[in-house]
Parts: sequence; structure tokens; C-alpha cells
Amino acid sequence: MGLPRAPQQQQQQQQKNKEKSSVSSNNFNHHQDMDMNFEDEPIDDTTESSNLEDSMCDVDDSNPGTDKTSADYYFDSYSHFGIHEEMLKDVVRTKTYQNVIYQNKFLFKDKVVLDVGAGTGILSLFCAKAGARHVYAVECSHMADMAKEIVEANRFSNVITVLKGKIEEIVLPVAQVDIIISEWMGYFLLFENMLNTVLYARDKWLVNGGIVLPDKASLHLTAIEDAEYKQDKIEFWNNVYGFDMSCIKKQAMMEPLVDTVDQNQIVTNCQLLKTMDISKMTPGDASFTVPFKLVAERNDYIHALVAYFDVSFTKCHKMTGFSTGPRSRSTHWKQTVMYLEDVLTICEGEQLVGSMSVAPNKKNPRDVDITLKYSLNGQRCLVSRIQHYKMR
Ligand SMILES: C[S@@+](CC[C@H](N)C(=O)[O-])C[C@H]1O[C@@H](n2cnc3c(N)ncnc32)[C@H](O)[C@@H]1O
Repeated sequence: MGLPRAPQQQQQQQQKNKEKSSVSSNNFNHHQDMDMNFEDEPIDDTTESSNLEDSMCDVDDSNPGTDKTSADYYFDSYSHFGIHEEMLKDVVRTKTYQNVIYQNKFLFKDKVVLDVGAGTGILSLFCAKAGARHVYAVECSHMADMAKEIVEANRFSNVITVLKGKIEEIVLPVAQVDIIISEWMGYFLLFENMLNTVLYARDKWLVNGGIVLPDKASLHLTAIEDAEYKQDKIEFWNNVYGFDMSCIKKQAMMEPLVDTVDQNQIVTNCQLLKTMDISKMTPGDASFTVPFKLVAERNDYIHALVAYFDVSFTKCHKMTGFSTGPRSRSTHWKQTVMYLEDVLTICEGEQLVGSMSVAPNKKNPRDVDITLKYSLNGQRCLVSRIQHYKMR
């Protein structure tokens, strides 16, 4: 996941991609070797309940198949092959799932698997090839029709059953499954998330002792120097061809930017904020407040905090996973940049302390509300502030 489902976000993302590629030669860092960033221990967490609705699968069934208009795509972005192409070509993502399945055939041999949000059916095909007894591939968008054809073309129809519909509404032909596999992660891990769909499937069908893949997801935070880009994206609105458009600046500040951060911009340590155990958590665990303490590793200025996530598959013979952090090979999730009102002048060893609160938006639970409280009590800078962000 992590791909835009809401059209507004999709357009914004296409725009961001254009912007990103235009600066990638000097400011961004691609194709570094993947490494895992499991540096620090979590400090604490508190949980609140969430109430996520299901709006991602609003498919217009009056126009199935290939004869689709832009209006159909507006409500059903996962029906378009382009999104699936981008996900499949994200090799960090797709290869990790492939390795998890092919290198751990003992997990899959003769097992019944449920693929939650199957898309093109790629994860189901991996599982079938690894020896699963049967795979139920559930996909709510029209891509389910393609998945059926793909399964037939690859002669796996006897092992994979594609079911078109929402997980929350379909009737599964079996009462229980041994394994639930899904790629559900969104930007900032939780944006437009389908985590609740996975938890719903887990609670309804997973056999006692069954496994969820991946089973751990964790959110991390760091701080960056980003004067040039903050100027370009935020301060730009102060004077646009001689006119004051700073009212837009307030909105721009509130919207985290999904983009690729150069690891050389990192000023502090990277801190693990929160780990979610997908095999045990409840939907309410996706709302939390966690403290952070970021320690400067050099004298520098801080313009933004950056969040990213890791996922891991701890049931593998050797623990496997990937990171979407700035020190790892880039993925389509990039990182999530939250600009700060203040430019923080921080000295090596000084601490930026605070907390981050994350919760689904009350009106649209697929959007995420983030509140940052931070303070720096340094030699050259005294700041204490609360900032609110909305991922939408
Ligand atoms: C991130 S994509 C992953 C697709 C595929 N598993 C892959 O790895 O390439 C998530 C898919 O889940 C589907 N989906 C989202 N919510 C769903 C739900 N409630 N029921 C069934 N499918 C859902 C979307 O349409 C989308 O195709």
C-alpha cells in the first residue's frame, strides 16, 4: 500500500513525483543498499480507540472490465494498472515479500492462505508457488478481474481462488485460514490505512496459532536540516510575484510532505516511536501518544521532523523485513516530512524533546491527524511549541 487512493492525494502525489524528480540530482539519494533501522528502544505509548470506515473500495460496478472512464478511476484508483505497476516495481517491497515466501516454504506448505487486498494477485502467486494448499485472494477493486485472468494464465486456478469484494463483506468458502498475508501499509504507515481490514480478517478467520505476515510494523522519527526545500515549499507563499499569499503557507505547514530525504540531512539520532504487533493489536492501538528525545549529532539547524516506518516478518527462519527510512534504499513510501514553525539552532549533544500524537481523523478516518509537541532548551535556541498536521 502507500499508494494514493483518494484522487486528490493521487494528483498531489503525481505532482510531488514530478517535483522530486526535478531535484533528485542534487538533493536526493536513491538506491542505497537496504539496511534495517532498528536502532532504539520505544519509550512509552498510550492508546485510544479509532473508528475507521471502509471507503477505499467504492467501486462503480456499473462499468466493470476495461471500459473505464476517468470518473471510475476517481473513485477506484486501485482498478488502474498504473498503481499496481508502481507497487510491483518497488523492489524493496515486492522482493521482500517474495523472499519471505520463497525462503520460508515450511511456513506455507499445505497451508490455507488469505491474501487481504490481493491486487494483481502477486502475493497469492508467490504463496501458491511456495506450496500453499489453497490461497483465497480477496480484492475489492476491478483489478480482481485481472487477478483472475493472471491466475488462469499462470495455471494456478486449482490453488488460487480470487474473490472480488470487500473483506468485510465477502463470504469465504472456508471457516478458517492458517496464514493471512497483506501489503496494507500507507504513507506514514497509517495514512489511508487498510490495517483495520487486516485486523478484521485476522479476528474472523485466522485459526488459533495462525500467522499474520508481516507481523510487526514500527514508526520512527528523526530531525533534518532542510533550509532549501522549506524555502521552496513553505516560505515561497510569503511573496508570490510580489503578492502576500501567506494564508496558503499555514495550510502548507499543516500538510506533511511525502518525499525522499537525503541521509546527509539527518541531524539527530533516529528514534523508534512505536511498534505495532499486527498479530495481537486492536484497531484502537493505531491511535497513540509517544514521547521522543532526539539528540543532535552535530551543530546544525533543524527545519523539519521526518517519520518513516519499518515492517518485519518475525516468523521467518531468519527475521526479514524492510525499512522505509532515509538510510535505506528508497521505496514508493519515501519519508514523511513535517516542517517546524521555528528554525531550531541546535548544538551537538543537545536534546529536542517532545511527543507525537497520532489518530485517525474523526470525520474521515482514512486521514491521519498528527500533533507534535516539542521543546529545545539549548545554548543558542529556546523553543517550546505545539503543531498540528493533517495527512489527507
Ligand atoms: C497496497 S495494494 C496491494 C496489492 C497486492 N497485494 C500487492 O502486493 O501488489 C492493496 C490492495 O488492497 C485492496 N483493498 C483495500 N481495502 C480492501 C478491502 N477492504 N477488501 C478487499 N480489498 C481491499 C486495494 O484495492 C488494493 O488493490
